[in-house]
Amino acid sequence: APRVLSGIQPTADSFHLGNYLGALRQWVALQETHDAFYCVVDLHAITVEHDPAALRRRTRVSAAQLLAMGVDPDRSTLFVQSQVPEHAELAWVLSCLTGFGEASRMTQFKDKAAKQGASAASVGLFTYPILQAADILLYSPEPGAAKPGTGERTGERTGEQAFHVPVGEDQRQHVELTRDLAGRFNHRFGTTFVEPEAYIPRGAAKITDLQDPTSKMSKSASSPQGIIDVLEEPGPMRKKIMRAVTDTGTEVRFDEENKAGVSNLLRIHSALSGDTVADLEARYAGSGYGQFKKDLAELVTGTFTPIRERTLKLLDDEDALDRILAHGAARAGEVAARTMDVVRDRVGFVGRGR
Ligand code: TYM
Repeated sequence: APRVLSGIQPTADSFHLGNYLGALRQWVALQETHDAFYCVVDLHAITVEHDPAALRRRTRVSAAQLLAMGVDPDRSTLFVQSQVPEHAELAWVLSCLTGFGEASRMTQFKDKAAKQGASAASVGLFTYPILQAADILLYSPEPGAAKPGTGERTGERTGEQAFHVPVGEDQRQHVELTRDLAGRFNHRFGTTFVEPEAYIPRGAAKITDLQDPTSKMSKSASSPQGIIDVLEEPGPMRKKIMRAVTDTGTEVRFDEENKAGVSNLLRIHSALSGDTVADLEARYAGSGYGQFKKDLAELVTGTFTPIRERTLKLLDDEDALDRILAHGAARAGEVAARTMDVVRDRVGFVGRGR
């Protein structure tokens, strides 16, 4: 089956609605048809100042939420990035292929660095996208790549190797960098990686903040009122939706430019209900924002309540959760080790022999 890989940072005590609609829902769907690798990227989470106890807790809460959303550890390989050391190793090699100017153009780095004051940002934050490229490329070895030390080809391309990375719109540039690095490595050292493609959902690629509907819904939002957390109780969730910023009009109509708030709510409704935006506009014509928001709140709480309950249950047995992750890391580690064997050989490192 074709591969997919994606990752999410354990930087909060809950994922949010943007993560769910932009990426995580696709993770669950894709495991039906793909050989899926999903990782909680704790190495990425230390690129900004962090508290060790919080990181440990959030890594487990993240994994539990993914399981609760339906990531099935028997079908998908679910693991924690730091448990597979090849991620950091490949990142080093790729960082030596990345131009300083090229890395400087990453918009997410520029945004995050600007927030902290450029000189306060860590070098790890700067090279963050290169580590992300390593996450992806470890699991996208070109099947025709030579076996280390032999120059012999391990197989021909079968067309099965389409390699997708399910993410929201904000990750597009990082996946582009990954493609460039794969191409550059292949060109310099011989075909080794399949160039991955971003898999971005059409309607829900950028969910915006409920209080500031022209900005992305984000963990670092200025007000918690703008974010719907997956693990939030239904009461506050409902309140946030009822208080979501709209406009002085009354029409439930999609108009990104003049009605950013309503348009965002329509996008969320459509993604959760499966109804088209046109159907929703017709249904709520003349009924004002109140009924629309009330129905939307029901949809959101109906989606997240069972996920919250399952997550809490999974967190009750930390040992069982850690075992699932250890099993995933063992499986991911086998693939990663094989890829790194080829990479080390290609780059010219002398092997230890067997
Ligand atoms: P992260 O942890 O910020 O977000 C996880 C996923 O959620 C998506 N997302 C959104 N989608 C729609 N609307 C939003 N408001 C919204 N906010 C977040 C993100 O696009 C992402 O898909 N760099 C990555 C983590 C990463 C990764 C990887 C992803 C590390 N290695 C390898 C893919 C492949 C990140 O910070 O995502």
